[in-house]
Amino acid sequence: MRVFLAGATGATGRVFIPLAEKRGHPLVLHVRPATAAKHPLGQDPRAVVFDLADDSALRRAIRGCDVIVSLVGTMKKRFATGDTYDTSDVGTTRQLVEAAKAERVSRLRLLSSYGAGGPGAYAQMKGECERIVMAARDIRWTIFRPSALVSPAWDTSDHHGKREVPGVIQWFGNTMRHLPGLQGLADDIRPIPIEVVARAIVSTLENPRDREILSGRDIWPLGEV
Ligand SMILES: NC(=O)c1ccc[n+]([C@@H]2O[C@H](COP(=O)([O-])OP(=O)(O)OC[C@H]3O[C@@H](n4cnc5c(N)ncnc54)[C@H](OP(=O)(O)O)[C@@H]3O)[C@@H](O)[C@H]2O)c1
Repeated sequence: MRVFLAGATGATGRVFIPLAEKRGHPLVLHVRPATAAKHPLGQDPRAVVFDLADDSALRRAIRGCDVIVSLVGTMKKRFATGDTYDTSDVGTTRQLVEAAKAERVSRLRLLSSYGAGGPGAYAQMKGECERIVMAARDIRWTIFRPSALVSPAWDTSDHHGKREVPGVIQWFGNTMRHLPGLQGLADDIRPIPIEVVARAIVSTLENPRDREILSGRDIWPLGEV
């Protein structure tokens, strides 16, 4: 399945790329112009360098793709660089959905977050991204809601850093799932390796989970080896 990958340069993108490639999915990797000069993917033959707000460039880039995967997002500490929840998360979701509709790319995978739609600016913003995707009636979407992400040890990139969670929190989540009746909740909230999430997304390219919101309890079994 030919994949247009938004967020290719991020912590999840770095892990998703080799996994999807290994499964034989050709990739079109989106890279922002400002990032291209300082990131190895800027020189990658699979990369397309433009701003997602450039609608005609976006439509050209997704043409012929079977699915859009969005791993785009920002965080408060990066607002000073000009990225905000509005531009990075909500804005790009809208841009990708509109372009998908225009080019009839009928499948979309969105990396959202545990708690989307709940209290707080981050969760509200994630809820808005999900609403935009779910309102696209002609698109067969799948939404992923993992808890805190954990980067693999091999990820040494300093671009946007690694995703790390203190060992005690991981221990707590792993222990909680062995308590009677708490396995589902524990799997939703315990930190999750990015490799598990990326494999789960890849698995839905091969075995679709159309119009489903997948939380940790669904993602773990899909993505564990
Ligand atoms: N970190 C966690 O624990 C966690 C937990 C649950 C869900 N999530 C969600 O999972 C997703 C991926 O997280 P991550 O930690 O892998 O992200 P990340 O490392 O911060 O990477 C974000 C990616 O989004 C791109 N991006 C940001 N703004 C953009 C824009 N306006 N246009 C185009 N691309 C843009 C970045 O490009 P540049 O390299 O050019 O900046 C980068 O490729 C995010 O939506 C995040 O909210 C994260």
